[in-house]
Amino acid sequence: MLRHLRSLEDFTKEELGAFIERALELKKERQAGVKHQRLAGKTIGLIFEKPSTRTRVSFESAMYGLGGEVIFLSGRDTQLARSEPLKDMARVMARYVDGLVVRTFGQNVVEELARYSSVPVINALTDLHHPCQILSDVMTVIEKRGPIENLKIAWVGDGNNVANSWIQAAEFFGFELTLACPEGYDPDPEILQKGRSNAAKPIVLVRSPEQAVAEADVINVDVWTSMGQEGEEDARLAAFDGFQINDALLACAPADTIVLHCLPAHRGEEITEEVLESARCVAFDQAENKMHMHKAILEKLIGD
Ligand code: CP
Ligand code: NVA
Repeated sequence: MLRHLRSLEDFTKEELGAFIERALELKKERQAGVKHQRLAGKTIGLIFEKPSTRTRVSFESAMYGLGGEVIFLSGRDTQLARSEPLKDMARVMARYVDGLVVRTFGQNVVEELARYSSVPVINALTDLHHPCQILSDVMTVIEKRGPIENLKIAWVGDGNNVANSWIQAAEFFGFELTLACPEGYDPDPEILQKGRSNAAKPIVLVRSPEQAVAEADVINVDVWTSMGQEGEEDARLAAFDGFQINDALLACAPADTIVLHCLPAHRGEEITEEVLESARCVAFDQAENKMHMHKAILEKLIGD
């Protein structure tokens, strides 16, 4: 059956849990030197309209690690840059590849490609969501701190794509989520409202970073200026004053709180060098887990 991963909502709670289980298993298998050929003979196309280090390389490495092949296309090198309709792009690409991994601006691009594609479309980040990131982040939290439904997770900073996907994760995985965002930088209101109505535990929006981290087992941070918002950088630097993850803020959190950053990090802005390089920050394990998670996603969507 054709399945897409446009946002976490494309899967059930059980299926999302299965991605985590499988990614943890694949990680152990890789450490033990187990080789896979499950996707031998399959090819995925990566269409990226924004830059990427981790997501691109971890998807490519995941696909090769499963015996498959990858074709990478930057947005500007395709006819999309010359306004070829998405519905044509989707139908043409689906004749050549077994899955499409897409990083773009509007969520509508991913939705439209999925509508017309006869192969799975995977969202590798839009302005609205970053679902694959959050699956590997949840995996990292479980690895470090155990069952996630018992934990309190904080988000400090911009109510951006990554924050929106964390809200959806709270809905499915059942943890308590407190987001501290400055006024004017809240998460998507529809996602927040839906998350709140469906979640078993509270999803709280506050203005004070100190309040958000006070009882947090996990603190999440991301850049203040996302890709595509470069023109807003000065206004954002001013708006996020006081939202930096630094030793003073961590002093307000429990002693065993861990810090997640999906990277890339801007040291001296949303996080200090000291915190990023400290033992509390698990950003590099988090980055590694993207590859294991992408294998689990590709196996299910392309292999099944
Ligand atoms: N975390 C993340 O998506 O990183 P990239 O932008 O490097 O892919
Ligand atoms: N919110 C960031 C995430 C980067 C992985 C962005 O969209 O640029």
